[in-house]
Formats: sequence, C-alpha cells, structure tokens
Amino acid sequence: MNTGILKFVLDGQIVEIDFNKVGFLPSTTVLNYLRSLHGHKGTKEGCAEGDCGACTVVLGELVDEKIRYRSVDSCLLFLPAIHGKQLITVENLAIRNGRETLLHPVQQALVEQYGSQCGFCTPGIAMSLFALFKSDIEISRHNVIHALAGNLCRCTGYDSIYRAALQAYGNRQPDQFEEKEPETTKLLQQIHAEGISLEIKTIDQIYLLPSTLTEAIEIRASNPQARIINGATDTAIRQNKTHEFLLALLDISGVDELKVIRRENNGFYIGAGLSIESFKAFSEKEMPFLLPMFDVFASWQIRNVASIGGNLATASPIGDFIPLFIALNARLELINHQGKRWVGMENFITGYRQNCLEKNELLLGIHIPYAGQGVVFKTEKVSTRRDLDISTLSIAMRLELDTHNKVQDIILAYGGMADRPKRARHVEKFMMGKTWSKGNIQEARALIENDFTPISDARSGSEYRMAAAKNLLLKMLW
Ligand SMILES: Cc1cc2nc3c(=O)[nH]c(=O)nc-3n(C[C@H](O)[C@H](O)[C@H](O)COP(=O)(O)OP(=O)(O)OC[C@H]3O[C@@H](n4cnc5c(N)ncnc54)[C@H](O)[C@@H]3O)c2cc1C
Ligand code: FES
Ligand code: FES
Repeated sequence: MNTGILKFVLDGQIVEIDFNKVGFLPSTTVLNYLRSLHGHKGTKEGCAEGDCGACTVVLGELVDEKIRYRSVDSCLLFLPAIHGKQLITVENLAIRNGRETLLHPVQQALVEQYGSQCGFCTPGIAMSLFALFKSDIEISRHNVIHALAGNLCRCTGYDSIYRAALQAYGNRQPDQFEEKEPETTKLLQQIHAEGISLEIKTIDQIYLLPSTLTEAIEIRASNPQARIINGATDTAIRQNKTHEFLLALLDISGVDELKVIRRENNGFYIGAGLSIESFKAFSEKEMPFLLPMFDVFASWQIRNVASIGGNLATASPIGDFIPLFIALNARLELINHQGKRWVGMENFITGYRQNCLEKNELLLGIHIPYAGQGVVFKTEKVSTRRDLDISTLSIAMRLELDTHNKVQDIILAYGGMADRPKRARHVEKFMMGKTWSKGNIQEARALIENDFTPISDARSGSEYRMAAAKNLLLKMLW
C-alpha cells in the first residue's frame, strides 16, 4: 500500500495532499476542501446532507482506458475517495482565454433559457446537467427530471432548467473535456501506475483505502475497530450532522472485486460494493420489476456512490433494499480471512441498525435466485415527498399462484413497521392456499395487527403506519 499522499487531477494537473502537512483530516469532505481553495468556491453548501445538490461536483474516472463521468454530492464525499480520479467543479466548465470566457454548452443554455435567478443552486444544477451531457442517457422529460431530482432550486422554476437541458443536449458536440481526454487520461494513468491503494495515518485519524479484496480482508482482520465505508453517504451524514468523529476508516470503494455482477446457474450474484446506479442499469435488462424502487431511491448523485452493501449493512428499519431482498429470497455472502459463509437476508438483520457481521467480516455479495415463470413481484414505497425521500414505510411482495389463482407461495416484507424490516407471517399463513382475491386480502388486512406494532416517530404516527400498511396490502392485488 502507498503511504500517505492523496493524488487526484484538478485544473488539468495532479494535486497532491500530504495529510501530515496540511490542516485537513482524511475525513474532511471534498466540499470543505474546495471551499478552502482560491478559485473553487462556486461549489456551495446548502444542507450538508445530500438533499439540495448545491455542492454537486463531477468525478472523472478511468474505466477501460476511457474517462467516465458521474455527479456526486461533495458534502458527503471524504477526500481520499477521489484518489486517482479527476475532480471537476463548476469553475472548470467554461474555457477562459485571457479576458474572454467561452461558456460550456450547459452553462450557455442555462443563461439563454433563464435557468438562474438568485444563482445559489446554479453551480450544482450546471454540474448535474454537465454529468447528463457527458452520459449516454437518452434525453427525455423523465430522464432530465430524474437526473435533477437531487438539485433543489427555490426561485427559477424547473421548466426553464428543463429547457436548458434540452437545448444543451440538442446541439451536443465534443466539448473541451473530450478534447483534453488524452492528456487527462495520461495524468490519471500516472497516478494509477504508482498503485491505487492508500494508507493515510495522521495523529488524529487513520484512513485505509485498499484496492484488492485480499488487502481489504487483511485490513479488516488487523483493524476490527475501523469503520467500513463504501459510498459513505450514510457515514458522512453522521459526521456532518452529529459531529461523530471516526478514528479509523476502512474505505472499500476502490475494490473492484466487490463490484461484480453476474448471472449464475440458479440466480444473480451482486457484489456488495456495486453502486445503486449500476445495479439499476443491470436491473433495467435483467430485473425490470425492481425499477419502480430505483425511481424513488435518493438522487442520481447519491445513487452514483451509495452501494448495495452499505444499504443492507446499515440495517435501517426503513432501508429500501432490505424488504426487497427479503421478498426476493436473497442470501448474503460474508467473508473474513478464514473463509466465507452465507446468511439469509432476514437473519442478517439482528436488531435496530444491527447486523450479524463479525468484527473481522465484510459483506461480499448478494445472491438473488431466479424468480421462475409466473412469479409476481411488487414493491411500493410511502414517503412524504415522491423524490429524494426515505421511506415512511414500504412493502415488497413475491407471489406464486397456481393455475386456479390460489396462493402457492407468498412472501410479504414490510419496512418501517418495526425495529427492522420484517415479514408479515400471519398474513402470509392466512393467504396460503386461498384464492388471490380482493375479499381474501380484505380479510387478511386485520392480521397485520398481529404481525406489527409500529411506533410513532418524526416521520409518522403509529396509527397512520398501520392504516397505510393495510392499504398497501390491498394495493398488491393490482
Ligand atoms: C440524501 C439521501 C437520500 C437517501 N435516500 C435513501 C433512499 O431513498 N432509500 C434508502 O434505502 N436509503 C437512502 N439513503 C441512505 C443511504 O444513502 C443508503 O442506504 C446507501 O445505500 C448507503 O450506502 P453507502 O455505500 O453510501 O454506505 P456507507 O455510508 O459507506 O456505509 C453504511 C454502513 O454500511 C457498512 N458497510 C458498507 N459496506 C459494507 C460491506 N461491504 N461490508 C460490511 N459493512 C459495510 C458501513 O460500515 C456503514 O456502517 C439516503 C441517504 C441520503 C444521504
Ligand atoms: S450541500 Fe446540500 S447536497 Fe451537499
Ligand atoms: S436560482 Fe435561486 S435557488 Fe435556484
């Protein structure tokens, strides 16, 4: 492992940070770093919790010798996560030639379509539009709105921003980033050639960034006290909002073996480090029944870094993928330096935000068995806002009917109804062998009271949760 020096590309050159010589900690966020720099204060802090997008930057990463761009919230990104990557901020979009400034097509379109008033959100919006401009996403109203769901604008109105996206996309031509790609690629390759794993030790904090699974497992065994992070979207919030200070971090986001996704004989295997956005792209082809859930999962910036493993390991009672994977009969593969073991999704969660991982274990991957012909799978999420909101409660159902429309097998998993996502076993038992009809489901609804005693909290009252849970069950009919 390389010791100490973080390296990334900014403003067309390699920047080096030696944490023992500067006033930053490894867990300093990219946003706070940028705000300390002359010439990069366009990146704004609005909420520091991933909700407003004012801090959006774009990361350029080498993938198969090409640079792939993705938007991220810099307020939730620890500095070492940009090791070996290109950091692009709003100041980098325009080309400056002496006194002349040539705006990037997305900036020009925002100007011409009146996409900015007070301007606070504008740098973040420009960066999200830039990421869209650099992607191969098909342009449509749905896709533009979806790409901007993580950007809040209080004054302009989204229609002018939407028109700007259409204009910029409409006359898409190679931009300066494409022209400079060979130079940037060389710089990134130079950093990668030195080895991409990193061990940063300062008086206050240790940050370990392995690049292989073997390294990650060894580090896990010898540093059981280190907090594992991947996308850090859950962990960074706690640092920002509750001032939680982490003495040691094990960042597994650089381990490619954790990002695998493959078809096996009896199901799909998904690496725990796969980003939610990559899982979404895979599901579009292989598991389209999951798409409604991706549509309401966080924002593009969050999904680009947040991992499946992070979502499951938080063991949150309102984590969206846990009920989903319970219903899918998923099993999780755990690994340590002595070997591997498998655990069922429901058994992995042992209590409120508790999982069964040993101190020296990592979550390696998830196995999802093929559903088989005729199996119906449905999900619903109830939240205060449609976009960028966590669940108040959610349901996921796997249903197998026989040729007489009778229930042969059923799994009904709820999130937000208990200290952890759980199956509604009384309801399931009642429905087995019965006709899948409105009358029977109406009758089964009362049994949810035997399965759950929901609590009241800031998101919702217990009465509301119970009523909504019963109604969600009815919604599974259609
Ligand atoms: C603005 C915003 C919106 C959000 N919206 C949603 C939403 O709609 N639905 C939802 O479910 N969640 C949501 N979240 C919560 C969170 O972002 C996700 O759960 C995300 O998937 C966490 O993944 P991560 O990689 O970023 O986690 P990290 O913060 O990196 O890790 C989270 C936890 O998992 C552990 N961990 C991570 N990977 C592993 C591994 N391989 N092995 C062992 N332990 C591991 C870490 O130790 C840590 O305790 C949202 C968060 C934000 C900030
Ligand atoms: S500051 Fe609001 S998302 Fe980062
Ligand atoms: S222009 Fe004012 S917040 Fe968007």
